[in-house]
Amino acid sequence: MCGIVGYTGSRAAMPIILEGLKKLEYRGYDSAGITTISDRNTHSLKSAGKLIELERQLANQHLPGTCGIGHTRWATHGKPTTENAHPHHSGSIALVHNGIIENYQQLKKSLQEKGYTFASQTDTEVVAHLIHSHYQGDLVKATVRAIEQLHGAYSLLVADSNTPGTLICIKHQSPLVLGLGTDENYVASDIPAILSETREFIFLEDGDMAVVSSAQYQVFADGQEVERPVKTVSWSPAAAEKDGYKHFMLKEIHEQPRAVRDTLRGKFFAGKVVLSDLRLQPNEISDIKRIILVACGTSWHAAMVGKYYLEKYTRIPTEVDIASEYRYRQKIIDSGTLVIPVSQSGETADTLAALKEAKTMGAKVLCICNVMDSSIPRESHGVLYTNAGPEIGVASTKAFTTQLAALYLMTLYLAQERNQLTPEQVADKIVDLEAIPAAMESVLQDGERYARFAERYHNYTDFLFLGRSYNLPIALEGALKLKEISYIHAEGYASGEMKHGPIALIDENMPVVVIATPSEVHEKVLSNMEEVMARKGRVIAISTNSTAVEAVADTFIVPEVPEEFSPMVNVIPTQFIAYYISDFKGCDVDQPRNLAKSVTVE
Ligand code: F6R
Repeated sequence: MCGIVGYTGSRAAMPIILEGLKKLEYRGYDSAGITTISDRNTHSLKSAGKLIELERQLANQHLPGTCGIGHTRWATHGKPTTENAHPHHSGSIALVHNGIIENYQQLKKSLQEKGYTFASQTDTEVVAHLIHSHYQGDLVKATVRAIEQLHGAYSLLVADSNTPGTLICIKHQSPLVLGLGTDENYVASDIPAILSETREFIFLEDGDMAVVSSAQYQVFADGQEVERPVKTVSWSPAAAEKDGYKHFMLKEIHEQPRAVRDTLRGKFFAGKVVLSDLRLQPNEISDIKRIILVACGTSWHAAMVGKYYLEKYTRIPTEVDIASEYRYRQKIIDSGTLVIPVSQSGETADTLAALKEAKTMGAKVLCICNVMDSSIPRESHGVLYTNAGPEIGVASTKAFTTQLAALYLMTLYLAQERNQLTPEQVADKIVDLEAIPAAMESVLQDGERYARFAERYHNYTDFLFLGRSYNLPIALEGALKLKEISYIHAEGYASGEMKHGPIALIDENMPVVVIATPSEVHEKVLSNMEEVMARKGRVIAISTNSTAVEAVADTFIVPEVPEEFSPMVNVIPTQFIAYYISDFKGCDVDQPRNLAKSVTVE
C-alpha cells in the first residue's frame, strides 16, 4: 500500500529517491519522507500531505549523501501526520516499511519497559527500536533477530549511519524488488519507481533478506545465501504503474484476495475478534438496540450484505439506507441506535451528512472506511479500516470485497461481545473467513473466458442481473458495474421479484445474469432461471456446478464456499463481465464519463 524507494551508489541519493516516490504516489499519498546517509550521519526530512509538500521543503533543505531511503505513505496505523511519516529512526538506524505489524502493541510495550520512547503512533517505529535493541555493531544480525519477533505482512528497507552505503531489504508478504545498475543499486516496492533508472530486476521472494551496496548484493533465505534470477522488464512506465495490467480496475480486481487478507490481518487473537479502533465499551455494546447502515452506490450494496450478517448473528434489528435518502428522512434515533456509515473514500457528501445528523441526534457512530483519517472516520466515534489500499479505478472493486470482510468482522465482534456466539463458534467462523481469499484467487484465473464472453455480448443494449438473499446485493452491484463502465443499461433485481414486473422484458435480446450458487433458496433460484429460459431469455449463470444449470447460454464456475461468504466470491465474475465488455467496447474503463472517484457534492 505504501511506496518504498532506496538507492546506494555514487550519485546524490535524494533526487533519485524523490523521482522514484513521484512514480509511486498512486500507492499512497498522505505523507512522505526521505533519509540519506553521509559522513556517518542520517539526514532526514518528512512531511504530511502530498509529495509536493516534501518536494517544496526539499528545495530549501539539502539531504547530502549517496545512499538513502524514501517512503510515500498510505496510513494504516496512526494518522497521516509528519511524526507518523516514514522513515522512522532509532539511534543510527532509519527504516521504511510497507505492510502491517500485527503484534506491534505487545512489542511497543516491552520496548517502552526497556526505556525506548516513541515519537509516532505507527507500527513501523516499533521495528526501528526493535532492531536498535538488538544492535551490537552488526546491522544484519540485529535485523534478523528483530524480524524473528514480527507477526504480519511487511517489506522493510533499513539503513544505518554506522554502515553507510549498505541497505537491508526484507520481504514478507509485501512487494519488494531490487533494481540493478552499474556501481549502483536500487530497491523499490514497485517497478515504476526505478524503471527510468534500470530494466534489470530481482524479484525478492517471501522470507528473503537482501544486503545491498553499490558494488554488490546478496540475497539470503533461511540464513543461507540464495540465487534469485535477474529479469529484464520491458514494460512501458504506464504499464508498470498498473503492474502490467491494462487498467487499474483490472489490477484492483486481481488485488482483492490480498486486500481482504490485509483487512483481516491483526484482527484475531487467540480465536477472538479484536477491534480496538471501534473504541466500544462493554456497556455500549450491550446497549445497542437498533443498527442503521448508511452508504451510497457500491458501498450501499456492501451494507445490504452487512444487514444479513448483523441480523443473523447479533439478532439486532438492522436497517440499510441510501445516505442521500436517510439524511432528509424524519429519523428515529436514540442512544440505543448504532449508525454504521460505509464508505471507501470517507468523503462522500451524503454519507458524511447522514453521519453528522445521526450523531447530533444521539446515535453512536462506527464507520467502515478505506481512507485513514478522512472526514467520515474523523466524525465517527470509532472506525474499522478496510486496508484495501488506494483504489484508483473509479468503479469500486477491492473496496467492495474488503467492506464485506469488514462488515463480517464487525458482526462477529458484536456477536462475540454480546455472547450470541460461543468462543468455539467465533473461532470456526474465523477459520472459514480466512479461507475466502484463496477461493477468490481461483476465480481470478478465468479472466480470458470473460474476454471471449465480452466479444459475444458487447452489442446487447440491456442486461438483467438476478440474485436472492446474500446475493441480491451482488445482482445490484453487477448491474451497477456494467452500466457505469460500459454504458449498457442494466438492472439488478431480486429473482423472486421478477415475476412481479421485469419478466415482461424478457426475450432473446435480454441476457440475464443469474447468481445461482448453493444457498437455502437455491431451488427457488433454479426455478426463476427456468422462467427466464421459458421466455427465450439468455441465461448466464454464476454457479459452482455446470450440470446444475444445464441448458443455460453460459456458465461461469466459482468455488463452493459457505453461503454467507459467497458474495465475496460471486462478485468477481460480475466485475469481470463489466470490465471485459467495457474494454471490448473501447470505453474509458478507469475513468468512465460523468463519474468521479469521490463524490463530495450532493
Ligand atoms: C461505483 C462506485 C460508487 C461509490 C459511491 C460511494 O463503482 O464506486 O458507487 O461506491 O460513490 O463512494 P464511497 O464508498 O467512497 O462513499
